[in-house]
Amino acid sequence: MARFTPENLVLAQEILSRYPRKKSAVIPLLHLAQEQDGYVTNDAMANIAELAEVTAAEVIGTCTFYEMFKTHPVGKYVINVCTNISCQLLGGEELLEHLEETLEIRSGSTTADGLFTIEDYECLAACTEAPCMQVNYRYFHRISNDEVDEVIADLRSGKLADTIPDHGTLQRVRQTIPADKLAGVHAPETVVDAPAWMSRNEPVLAARAAAEAAAKAAEAVEEKKAD
Ligand code: FES
Repeated sequence: MARFTPENLVLAQEILSRYPRKKSAVIPLLHLAQEQDGYVTNDAMANIAELAEVTAAEVIGTCTFYEMFKTHPVGKYVINVCTNISCQLLGGEELLEHLEETLEIRSGSTTADGLFTIEDYECLAACTEAPCMQVNYRYFHRISNDEVDEVIADLRSGKLADTIPDHGTLQRVRQTIPADKLAGVHAPETVVDAPAWMSRNEPVLAARAAAEAAAKAAEAVEEKKAD
């Protein structure tokens, strides 16, 4: 485990083929690694470095820059409780405390059964809906202690399995891009033709330039008359 499975290795190669430079695939590959193991393991990072032809330090640097990539095991459900100002004023800290008591763990840790991880979070960008929390990045707005209890019970029973997949799951249907729809797979320095969007817009740009020139010419005539 931890390096890409044979199945994911095929997927990783497909992801790499979408980019002119392999390095550009580091983030999608980190997502794939997290989806595979629930977090990004050291072996996965080494594997990504080999595949993307970058150094291990570059992969670690990228991975640890983003909060949503985890480099240690986390629960099936990662619960982020916002305790920033709006949420704090409306009970965010009490909500976090309630959750810690209910799950019998402190923020930053995971329950013994591996189901839940609690995180004390900075602003979740839903301040008007305070207090709020996320479970695997799905929002719960204006949530009360009783509603938190309900969410925990529903997660335990599997009632929310359709709406909240396991931590690390990116999507249930993976995007595939047919060869004739691929864009941007050539390195910029190898592209000699004008981009398609430019030729598409050429008539519009030419008409606009002609109109501007005509307006300027008319202005000049008016100015001459005034003299
Ligand atoms: S302060 Fe909680 S979402 Fe912004």
